[in-house]
Amino acid sequence: MFPSFLVFALVGATAAVATAPHSSLKFSLSSTAATPDARRTRVAASTAASSSNVQLVDYFDGTDLQWYGPISLGTPSQNFTVVFDTGSVSLEVPSIACGAACANQRQFDPSKSSTFEDQFSNSSVTFGTGVGVEPVNGSNWKLDLAFVADALVVGDISVPLGGFFLITNQTATFLPDPFDGIMGLSPDMGDFFDSAGLPAIFGMDFTPHSAPGGGAGELTLGGVDTTKFQGDLVYSPNVDGQWQLNSQALFVNGKLALNKTVPLIFDSGTSNILFVESTAKAIHALISPNITTNPDEPGTFGIPCALLPSLPASISIQFAPIAGQNAFNLTIPSSELSLGPFAKTPELCQTLINVSEGFNLVGLSLLKHYYSAWDIGGARIGFAPNGF
Ligand SMILES: *[C@@H]1O[C@H](CO)[C@@H](O)[C@H](O)[C@H]1NC(C)=O
Ligand SMILES: *[C@@H]1O[C@H](CO)[C@@H](O)[C@H](O)[C@H]1NC(C)=O
Ligand SMILES: *[C@@H]1O[C@H](CO)[C@@H](O)[C@H](O)[C@H]1NC(C)=O
Ligand SMILES: *[C@@H]1O[C@H](CO)[C@@H](O)[C@H](O)[C@H]1NC(C)=O
Ligand SMILES: *[C@@H]1O[C@H](CO)[C@@H](O)[C@H](O)[C@H]1NC(C)=O
Ligand SMILES: *[C@@H]1O[C@H](CO)[C@@H](O)[C@H](O)[C@H]1NC(C)=O
Ligand SMILES: *[C@@H]1O[C@H](CO)[C@@H](O)[C@H](O)[C@H]1NC(C)=O
Ligand SMILES: *[C@@H]1O[C@H](CO)[C@@H](O)[C@H](O)[C@H]1NC(C)=O
Repeated sequence: MFPSFLVFALVGATAAVATAPHSSLKFSLSSTAATPDARRTRVAASTAASSSNVQLVDYFDGTDLQWYGPISLGTPSQNFTVVFDTGSVSLEVPSIACGAACANQRQFDPSKSSTFEDQFSNSSVTFGTGVGVEPVNGSNWKLDLAFVADALVVGDISVPLGGFFLITNQTATFLPDPFDGIMGLSPDMGDFFDSAGLPAIFGMDFTPHSAPGGGAGELTLGGVDTTKFQGDLVYSPNVDGQWQLNSQALFVNGKLALNKTVPLIFDSGTSNILFVESTAKAIHALISPNITTNPDEPGTFGIPCALLPSLPASISIQFAPIAGQNAFNLTIPSSELSLGPFAKTPELCQTLINVSEGFNLVGLSLLKHYYSAWDIGGARIGFAPNGF
């Protein structure tokens, strides 16, 4: 059975950009970025503040490739759960205006909040990668939005007035989700940490279901949780101001699959791995000649499920270091190869890699094997083994 994982990346999407946010907003999750230098200064100025942990729930449905956690909005607070998504830029939760189209999600009621401010700006957003296993087809992952502002609480961080989006309609693809909305954690959200007096960095832990006490995760705002990883964090610099790192080479079971520098997007809202077709084929060729494209689901690959148990499929990606450190590998273990059987051809199992159009992206099947430190001020991402 296919779990219905979502994949949230705004790659190739029509991004919702709010116009003329209210001048009294403390921050807006859709605001434009400060310059890297300005951000660095802020980090240095606020290192005394203490970080805050948010516990995450593992959406385990056969495989564990999506985590979510709590936030509150309004006065008095109305509670929601969101996917914390490094692949998107803004916060979206359902509004009561969404009605039946958001029937499974909690819905924000502006009339019950004394601090609510409508920003009178409507827009819509279409997500560019709906992978997991639900195919993207045209605009089948679309949200209609209203830009508003209200009090926001995430972990111990309270922002008196933050800009965000209320979902006023959504496509049926979102309806089965066990969470309510999405909170983008892009490198442009330095203002959020600044408004809380915290360093502009967050840590993410996605402990797999199979780990002892597994199925939990943690988002740390304004720092990293050193109890969640072993050794030191190794860093690679952001490319083009995004959560994107330069991969230098790609290896499958120790053999070279790609010897070329390629930018890779790191997306905590995406379950799978997306590569351009030539790279996807090169990796699969080194795993098994029995991996074939699946014409039923264009862009996907399948392998006879019977071959899986004994198949080594360790994918190592080498990354460019920051100054003074060495290049390093991040490795996706063989256990991540299969997403489970295809619905129409159950003897065939879907692999973790799907073909993208013109970009490369890694999601939770890689991230859940490392602790990750998303350093906005330093414009870099750090990694350390989490032991699973
Ligand atoms: C919202 O969540 C907080 C923290 O978990 C909890 O204390 C509070 O009771 C919740 N409020 C509602 C209305 O459920
Ligand atoms: C895989 O990628 C292709 C090409 O981008 C896309 O058409 C297809 O819907 C994707 N498949 C899934 C299952 O997401
Ligand atoms: C995509 O959607 C269109 C209608 O919008 C439908 O005709 C087509 O069959 C769909 N394609 C897939 C692969 O689901
Ligand atoms: C536009 O935004 C307002 C709130 O500002 C909301 O009440 C309304 O439902 C939105 N309309 C659409 C079509 O999304
Ligand atoms: C909500 O979106 C659906 C498409 O998912 C559309 O058919 C419907 O007309 C929309 N409803 C409103 C009130 O815009
Ligand atoms: C990454 O892994 C490959 C394959 O095992 C290895 O050849 C390469 O030296 C490793 N790179 C680093 C920097 O450790
Ligand atoms: C990658 O190619 C370069 C030449 O472009 C070569 O010097 C290098 O040894 C190759 N790397 C590996 C791991 O084979
Ligand atoms: C795997 O592929 C080989 C040919 O490359 C073929 O002989 C064999 O039957 C295939 N195995 C399965 C289980 O499909």
